[in-house]
Amino acid sequence: MKAVIIKDGIYWVGGIDWNLRNFHGYLTQRGSTYNAYLIIDEKSTLIDTVKYYLTDEMLERISSVIDPSKIDIVVSNHVEMDHSGALKKIAEIAPAAEIITSPNGEKGLPLHYGPLKLRAARNGEKISLGSRTLEFILTPMVHWPDNMMAYCPEEKILFSNDAFGQHIATCERFEEEYSFDIIMDEAKKYYANIVLPYGAQVKKALEASSTLHIEVIAPSHGIIWRSHVKDIIREYDKWSSNTTDKKALIVYDTMWKSTEMMAIAIYNAFEKKDYFPKLLSLQHNHISDIMTELLTAEYICVGSPTLNNNMLPTVSAFLTYMKGLAPKGRKALAFGSYGWGGQSIKQVEEVLASCGFELLESVKVQYVPTEKALAEITEKIAHAI
Ligand code: FEO
Repeated sequence: MKAVIIKDGIYWVGGIDWNLRNFHGYLTQRGSTYNAYLIIDEKSTLIDTVKYYLTDEMLERISSVIDPSKIDIVVSNHVEMDHSGALKKIAEIAPAAEIITSPNGEKGLPLHYGPLKLRAARNGEKISLGSRTLEFILTPMVHWPDNMMAYCPEEKILFSNDAFGQHIATCERFEEEYSFDIIMDEAKKYYANIVLPYGAQVKKALEASSTLHIEVIAPSHGIIWRSHVKDIIREYDKWSSNTTDKKALIVYDTMWKSTEMMAIAIYNAFEKKDYFPKLLSLQHNHISDIMTELLTAEYICVGSPTLNNNMLPTVSAFLTYMKGLAPKGRKALAFGSYGWGGQSIKQVEEVLASCGFELLESVKVQYVPTEKALAEITEKIAHAI
């Protein structure tokens, strides 16, 4: 396990989680990395660590450059355990090292690891590493209250932690070494499933970093940005502005295909009005992939038949996940078939309303929709959008 040179004297020393497929409900098809960075200067500095089970891998990479006991400063940009999991071990190996974190990190880290030699950085505080400087920028709620970034003006590198990350397990470290389309898709999925609730805080972080001259963005997950820095900042600006495309998602589950027939009728309505609709069965699409689509969708239509007086559990799970990620300003529709009770449609509608979405009048059909009923649904929805 070797360190990877990012710039002269600056190394990637993280861990690669090749087999990670679930990140608290987020399907990580491509695994992930936990990026730690080592700066060799008068004060050797480690920025972030890795998940606990990759501690040895990180130490081996550090050891390919420097004896880990010689680390003088550890910067902990984020308390979440995928980045702080090796902190306790580093503190044991390099007991003289000062751990610099945010004021909320100073509160949160001991609640995870017990007493540590911590110092809280102020927003905008600069420290000298020798020939280089690190400036700390507090970015609370991107993604926890304790998040901060560290900027090195001499190298024009922003160590951005969770912001600008992607869940990709790879030996390649830079965009030009990997498929750019995949990097952007994964960056989008990461934003939709991790960062989405914090758009206002992202705006503030973008504003704070807009005065910096950034040549490299070194996030805490995935690929390092150096050829497309402006592109990913522009996308973050777009995503945090809640800008949508002329796109409609029809998300549903079905028991005897009746709700699916209705979903297709609704799809036809959007197609008629020149939208780009997507038909997403919850039997075949992961909720985290649906969220990626929702990031830029104007409409979200959710369908469920009624089972034992309730919506189907798959639909309920999707709605709970979506509500937590708090997309804003969408237009929505509840639909579904039913046998006798028909409670599911109202239940779906209530969740969509509680998200603050603008609702179209819901559509329901008893048992199996006829051709005529489906045509009427298409007409009704096409008229309403
Ligand atoms: Fe990658 Fe919020 O941790």
